[in-house]
Amino acid sequence: MLYNSYYNAVGDRHPLPQRGLLTRPSLESVPAFRADVDDRMQKLLSRNTTEFGELVILGLHHEQQHQELLLTDIKHLFSCSPLSPVYREVEPAKGQAPALSWQNYASGLTEIGHQGNDFCYDNETPRHNVFLPGFQLASRLISNAEFQVFIDGGGYTDPAYWLAE
Ligand SMILES: [Fe+2]
Repeated sequence: MLYNSYYNAVGDRHPLPQRGLLTRPSLESVPAFRADVDDRMQKLLSRNTTEFGELVILGLHHEQQHQELLLTDIKHLFSCSPLSPVYREVEPAKGQAPALSWQNYASGLTEIGHQGNDFCYDNETPRHNVFLPGFQLASRLISNAEFQVFIDGGGYTDPAYWLAE
């Protein structure tokens, strides 16, 4: 019940608004749980990898999403702290980013959706045609300094920059 986030058909769920009231497992029990999962997975995979292969791949991709959510939650929590904790100290990049330019992409009919036989989620299929309005993409990733200009300029607080949805 505690691990069921969405699935009404599976059974009862713990109410989401009360999740923050659940106590966390002890530090000793977390690596023990992980070791148990690893042990069970190794036993499973040693039995017959072809039978469980696709399910294991799906599980690994799902777990990757958990890791991304955990990191996002940690960074959000840190951002709310008046102590300004840092997730990981990194040396700032040195040098100047190359000049940014905008690349134009014309509108038109295009195919979207997964192609090939490797892993994808079910919402990435079937591949199909869509009309895509014209758009622009920057020639490179934005730098922290450019992002700071956006924040300082009211990028997050001025609703003119955001659609209601
Ligand atoms: Fe999940």
